[in-house]
Amino acid sequence: MEQSATAPDFPRARTCPYQPPAGHEALAERGPLSRVTLYDGREVWLVTGHAEGRALLTDQRLSSDRQNPAFPVFAARAEGQGEAPLPLIGYDDPEHARQRRMLIPSFGLKRIAAMRPQIQRIADELIDAMLAGGPEAELVSAYALPLPSMVICSLLGVPYEEHELFESLSRALLLSETGAQARGIRQEFEDYLDGLIARKEAAPGEGLLDELIADRLMEGQLDRRDLVMTAMVTLVAGHETTANMISLGMYTLHEHPDQLAALRADPALMPGAVEELLRYLSIADVMVRVATADIEVAGQTVRAGDGVILGASLINRDAGVYERPGVLDVRRSARHHVAFGFGIHQCLGQNLARAELEIAFTTLLTRIPTLRIAVARDELLIKPATTLQGLFTLPVAW
Ligand code: HEM
Repeated sequence: MEQSATAPDFPRARTCPYQPPAGHEALAERGPLSRVTLYDGREVWLVTGHAEGRALLTDQRLSSDRQNPAFPVFAARAEGQGEAPLPLIGYDDPEHARQRRMLIPSFGLKRIAAMRPQIQRIADELIDAMLAGGPEAELVSAYALPLPSMVICSLLGVPYEEHELFESLSRALLLSETGAQARGIRQEFEDYLDGLIARKEAAPGEGLLDELIADRLMEGQLDRRDLVMTAMVTLVAGHETTANMISLGMYTLHEHPDQLAALRADPALMPGAVEELLRYLSIADVMVRVATADIEVAGQTVRAGDGVILGASLINRDAGVYERPGVLDVRRSARHHVAFGFGIHQCLGQNLARAELEIAFTTLLTRIPTLRIAVARDELLIKPATTLQGLFTLPVAW
């Protein structure tokens, strides 16, 4: 049920996993900014214009501070989000910048380039196992999830043997249905990570968490709880996102055989294809903010206290910026998309994600060239609107 004729319900669920939900594109036609109604009945602004979206994402009058009582609650699981905001995504500068500065070196281009041989080895080993168990597999659990999960474990210094626990906690957190449920899962997650950090204090290992313990925790620049929550953000963001991109990306390429053929014929297209898939799929479809002052945008006034949602899949299909935006074209220049966000919160892990995606797609396409999707379109298990977009499972065969 819509709240009013002028502010349709938002967000809706995707029916095709790589297209914006039915009804969302009509919202973009209402102008670069329009009003939508969230699940709790509150009306907020939805930004769908590319120029307006990028301008707002760099506007300091738009805040990520979950402790602001006017911060929109975009899904029931976010109720109570202001009680213990997550580092980085829950803060504005200068506190946000302080938190981010500690992590930047580990995600820089040079450090990530040095990880490429390791990412390649992981991809190859996972494919060896798929081939050994074939000629069919479930791609999410066999490849799309373990690849980024192993990589982020190595980067952070989290033992991969514990992956079942943190992967299931991450998934439960992202899919929780109420604020109370989300808080319970977060507590469990924090307890696990607190225990991990205690183990590391007793027996230091290698990885970003160990470096943070040695350099920051010991010197009193970071407290234990901050470290636990930083570990949680990087661990969750570091595997769930890329996993969705790998499986949904493979599905989407198979739905566009001409694009798949172009990529096979010319592997040099891969970096551009990754950008295009990021744009086209926009798996982090919803970015949430609150205005802290009046802002004039596109002839409208966003008032202090108004909620603002940036709709990535619509911003990334702005016809004023991308020609034939609804067409997947691995040869186009998809630069300036907001699939990784924009401005101060732009994805910390984007260099890593790009390296993982390039290697994951290239390796799968070359090592299992006869791979095909082994599930009918109407049997696909698509993730709900209120979380990262993607597929729960993807049966494949070769
Ligand atoms: C293809 C995969 C990925 C996508 C599509 C993605 C998308 C995004 C987006 C849209 C944001 C901005 C959110 C906002 O402004 O509200 C973001 C932030 C972030 N991402 Fe990613 N991400 C990906 C992979 C990763 C990886 C591998 C990591 C590794 C740790 C990571 C860590 C983070 C962190 C820590 C932030 C918060 C940054 C801040 O607030 O300063 N992401 N990501």
